Amino acid sequence: MEVVICSDADEIGRLGGQAIADLVSARPGAVLGLATGSSPRPVYADVLRRVDADEVSLKGVSTFSLDEYVGLPEDHPVSYRAEIRRVFTDAAGIPADRVHTPRASADDVEAAAQAYEDAIRDAGGIDLQLVGLGTEGHIAFNEPGSSLASRTRIKTLTEQTRSDNARFFDGDVSAVPHHCLTVGLATILDTRHVIVIATGESKAKAVAQLVEGAVSARWPATVLQAHPHVTVLLDEAAASGLELADYYRYAWEHKPGWQGP
Ligand code: GLP
Repeated sequence: MEVVICSDADEIGRLGGQAIADLVSARPGAVLGLATGSSPRPVYADVLRRVDADEVSLKGVSTFSLDEYVGLPEDHPVSYRAEIRRVFTDAAGIPADRVHTPRASADDVEAAAQAYEDAIRDAGGIDLQLVGLGTEGHIAFNEPGSSLASRTRIKTLTEQTRSDNARFFDGDVSAVPHHCLTVGLATILDTRHVIVIATGESKAKAVAQLVEGAVSARWPATVLQAHPHVTVLLDEAAASGLELADYYRYAWEHKPGWQGP
């Protein structure tokens, strides 16, 4: 696990954006795993700047989002499908039929969950997965107690997550759905490179657990300690609970040029 403590969100955006640009330049048909929420926004902004400057084209990529609320129509402005198209994929020129999101409003949600796993596999697997971190340690919507071997399925959101996400619902917690369809922890472990993004003091405890805690369903993000290629992009506040922060800074400063992202 590589931990990079950045000076600000712009640096996080640049590093994440560079990783995506490098991947897509080498592999124009790359498969990206996308996260919604506020954490990946600087990365999306950086990639869109590169697209506008003709540094990279994302027209050939496919995307799979991590999760979706149950009970919101897909065209609802706060649905994760609407959000990812609005904040990233439409502006990046990725055709809508290659922007995949879990079909949480399907009549048969279990079949939709299996179909999502099948679609990821049929696309050749996810090359690069962006991941945000919940304050209680979730990745995607794998709340505490999630099986470390889980696949795409319905989960019940914690009250903490519903209250954290109320800001996307005009501050109205009662409008936040209670359930979601989310990829599982094993689904995320199957991806080839995971980039975790966390900013702000509210994520410091979850970050400390992710990097230095014991692997446990209590802090689902800790499963990433078993993934062979994880990059954690943090600001100073999110890194404030790390015991070995000085070592991570030292390792980053001395990173050899031949070592890839
Ligand atoms: C949300 C989403 C995740 C997101 C995470 C962090 O509830 N299910 O996909 O990455 O929690 O959210 P944010 O980046 O807005 O803090």
